[in-house]
Amino acid sequence: MNHAARVENRPSGASPFPPGPNEMGEGAWQNYLFYRRFFKDPLSYVTRWMETYGDVWHFMIGDNHNYAVANPDVIHELFVRQSKRFIKGPAYTSKKTGLARFMGEGLVTSNGEFWKRQRRLVAPAFHAIRVHAYADTMVDYTLKRLEGWSDGAVLDADEEMMQLTLTIVARTLFDADASSTVNQVKQAVAVVQKANNTASILPYWIPTPLRLRSWLANNALNKIVYSFINDRRKSGEDRGDLLSMLLLAEDADGERMTDLQARDEAVTLFLAGHETTANTLNWTWWLLAQHPEVEAKLHAELDSALAGRRPKLEDLRRLPYTDIVIKEALRLMPAVWSVSRTAAEDTKACGYPMPEGTTAQVMIYLLHRHPEHWKQPNDFLPERWLEPEIENLHKYAYLPFGGGPRVCIGNSFAIMEANLLLATIAQRYQLRLIDGVEIKPAALITLFPRDGLPMRVERRSTRAETAGTSVDSDSKLYAAG
Ligand code: HEM
Repeated sequence: MNHAARVENRPSGASPFPPGPNEMGEGAWQNYLFYRRFFKDPLSYVTRWMETYGDVWHFMIGDNHNYAVANPDVIHELFVRQSKRFIKGPAYTSKKTGLARFMGEGLVTSNGEFWKRQRRLVAPAFHAIRVHAYADTMVDYTLKRLEGWSDGAVLDADEEMMQLTLTIVARTLFDADASSTVNQVKQAVAVVQKANNTASILPYWIPTPLRLRSWLANNALNKIVYSFINDRRKSGEDRGDLLSMLLLAEDADGERMTDLQARDEAVTLFLAGHETTANTLNWTWWLLAQHPEVEAKLHAELDSALAGRRPKLEDLRRLPYTDIVIKEALRLMPAVWSVSRTAAEDTKACGYPMPEGTTAQVMIYLLHRHPEHWKQPNDFLPERWLEPEIENLHKYAYLPFGGGPRVCIGNSFAIMEANLLLATIAQRYQLRLIDGVEIKPAALITLFPRDGLPMRVERRSTRAETAGTSVDSDSKLYAAG
């Protein structure tokens, strides 16, 4: 039965809204207590609710209508058909309680004509030709990072991936060296994640410890990003990269961005552009370590297609298995597991009433595990992407980068980066889980390993001849481990 029929056929006198949980409680205090519990393990809650209520459910927070949506038709309605009506709501745009506290009015947090103008100004930095030019830098940084790895060492893979993707985004988009800022950015990201997903009943101006940390995080981000901006302003150079675009690009009316607008876009891209890709790789290592058969196929592909050479952009088309490993990791553990839209006016989506102010949470994580769309939905099976049936997959059943006009602007950048980093590292190292250490996902703004990702790195004894290391010394290292 389609949605309109589901809504039309409800018994007379029944609520026009679909059923949903009422565990949130009615008063502010109950609501607060509920969300404290909820944020400890959101994935279990939403998985259970989908099992109970189906892929669209409704709940109230105070007087506000909310939906959770894991249905591709409804998502298509929100992202595409009614994209002008479903906008970024206060969780993004509020400078008191939303993501805008950190990102200001950047691409992720703005709406309407302003957003459109900014997107047009920034888009050239993400055109294919420009993105492709970043490939060698990505591999260079990875090889450099691997110089610090040694056979048998236990590392926090999360820290390694964050450091790598952060320095890559700083170099490619801002032509800057961010290596000394890694710790500050890491702390800032942790605060941003927490600040947007912490229940509070205190007025926003009361300086709770988290709010003080938010203020410090913002100062740290400003310092880093303004140093990029000021350095470039001093040199006055147009290097043709994103930063030059932010500072020099003019819109159709000949207007340039102010320093504050450039800061907001730069912080947005700096944050959105590294943590998501790092987590995609984190989950890929975690999944590979649990699926030796997939890992073996990946290694076989890398060894035969690259024959020990460092990967280059042109190699990516010879690495189809590497690509589906990333695709499948993004399905099971989508770094952006949920996004939201708010109705700017009274409307309906697939028959569901959405009064003005309704917030719809698009549950990408549940969508990607929806049993109507995926066989063995909870299993890591990269091969599913090679089966003929995949052609029949609903166009809105797989959305790791969102969809419609607000689809991720860094989509191709991220896919290329994830593939190149996976190829470069897996060519040389195998990452293994540590016995007795359980990796638990945390789902805040992104989906990340809650307590980091400690893994043992083992040098692969293959014919993979790599940056200055001979096959012999490779084998010795491996044997020594
Ligand atoms: C695997 C890595 C990534 C994932 C999973 C991811 C996911 C997403 C998703 C789901 C959205 C849509 C949000 C919404 O509809 O509300 C989005 C938007 C966005 N992403 Fe990404 N992203 C990734 C990498 C990147 C990179 C590398 C950059 C930049 C260098 C980037 C910059 C952005 C920006 C600026 C937006 C907002 C676009 C707009 O609203 O116009 N992302 N991303």
